[in-house]
Amino acid sequence: MVEPLRRVSREERERLIREAGLNIFAVPADSIFIDLLTDSGTSAMSDDQWAGLMVGDESYAGSRNFFHFQLAVREIFGYQHVIPTHQGRMAENLLFSTVLKAGDVVPNNIHFDTTRANVEHQGAEAVDLVIDEGLDPVVEHPFKGNLDPAKLERLLRERGGQRVPLVMITVTNNSGGGQPVSIANVRAVREVCRRHGVPLIFDACRFAENCWLVKTREPGFERRSVAEIAREMFALGDGCTMSAKKDGLVNIGGFVALNNGEWAERITNLLILIEGFPTYGGLAGRDLEGMARGLHEVLNEDYLEFRIGQVAHLGEMLELAGVPIVKPVGGHAVYLDAKRFLPHIPQAQFPGQALVVALYREFGIRSVEVGSLMFAHRDPQSGETVYPRLELVRLAIPRRVYTTEHMRYVAESVIQLYRDRERLRGLRLTYEAPVLRHFTARLAELSAAEAAGAAR
Ligand SMILES: Cc1ncc(COP(=O)(O)O)c(C=O)c1O
Repeated sequence: MVEPLRRVSREERERLIREAGLNIFAVPADSIFIDLLTDSGTSAMSDDQWAGLMVGDESYAGSRNFFHFQLAVREIFGYQHVIPTHQGRMAENLLFSTVLKAGDVVPNNIHFDTTRANVEHQGAEAVDLVIDEGLDPVVEHPFKGNLDPAKLERLLRERGGQRVPLVMITVTNNSGGGQPVSIANVRAVREVCRRHGVPLIFDACRFAENCWLVKTREPGFERRSVAEIAREMFALGDGCTMSAKKDGLVNIGGFVALNNGEWAERITNLLILIEGFPTYGGLAGRDLEGMARGLHEVLNEDYLEFRIGQVAHLGEMLELAGVPIVKPVGGHAVYLDAKRFLPHIPQAQFPGQALVVALYREFGIRSVEVGSLMFAHRDPQSGETVYPRLELVRLAIPRRVYTTEHMRYVAESVIQLYRDRERLRGLRLTYEAPVLRHFTARLAELSAAEAAGAAR
């Protein structure tokens, strides 16, 4: 399938981003030249997946596509109970509504924004325990997504009064730069969980990319297939939540998969109430077929080599020109380090978002901020604003969509912007919603005098 790209003029982009309140989520997609907002739901489906849509069985109950999908999940992930949902956050919501209570604690390497919000929605606390290297954008480490087993051990000992109903590991670690988790680390975390009797659940969105990076970076896995590595990884856990919009290679879909029959039964009852019957879970039969086929396709190693190679190539072009990026480049995206890109803009003035706005205004490229707009929050005790350590801009690459030529355009644009970086100014919020504010926030650019005053 071929889709034309539209180039809009700089004047039009200037107007559109201003009307959007400097929020890239509010810019119409057909006014974007290269869309690197997300790799979620933006993949191109294969001929086999499209053919699968034609054999969609839209029976209310017991659709044949559900059984194909259930079999694919059981084969690849190895969990017995398979509960389809329309996307990842519904899987999170169903799991957390079922197993969390107010006051509970959920450790993770780094919670993705919807995961954190869904934990907090239950009155529980989301704690990030990634290894220290995972919070340093410069240090080279092959598995910066690893969850620190010593930090986990300490948390499980010290929070004796609070319940920890599950530990999560996000593969790859999206909010920490798309960094992978090693099998050795999963084993170490599993051991801590076993000693404390806590189940281990994966946030499995990018499991195939994680397992490819294990194959290419972790000693002892070079000769193992990605499918085998995935089986080994998931066998160390008790279940997963999944947004199939990433490594399911579909535009919509997700699931919860578990070995715990009691949890699965409670989740299924809730699913019927808010999402749909257990054999379609908020999806059409054809969507389930697309997912069943996509989950197998994503394990194809020629595809993974091209996919991870394309992302790495963008990173290399930027690095060669001295643009500060998170290193090493992870699975699905290149992350610009906005703190080093725009050292003259303090975090309180949203340097990441300033970069996002400029990339669109100057070059028609859509990216997304993963920094203070997304994560800064007020400390309930002190009332002070707490800023995240990482201030990143994510250039997420949709799967099977863009060519090397598109990547070259992106690299040249970012390099140009880096050369002109001193012209960029900080921003201030004019509207924010109480949760997940980055989706709907409105901002304004600071004047030169305001920027100097606020920085002082
Ligand atoms: C690591 C991670 N977990 C969960 C989600 C939520 O998935 P969805 O957007 O399908 O609700 C995402 C989406 O980007 C993600 O990257």
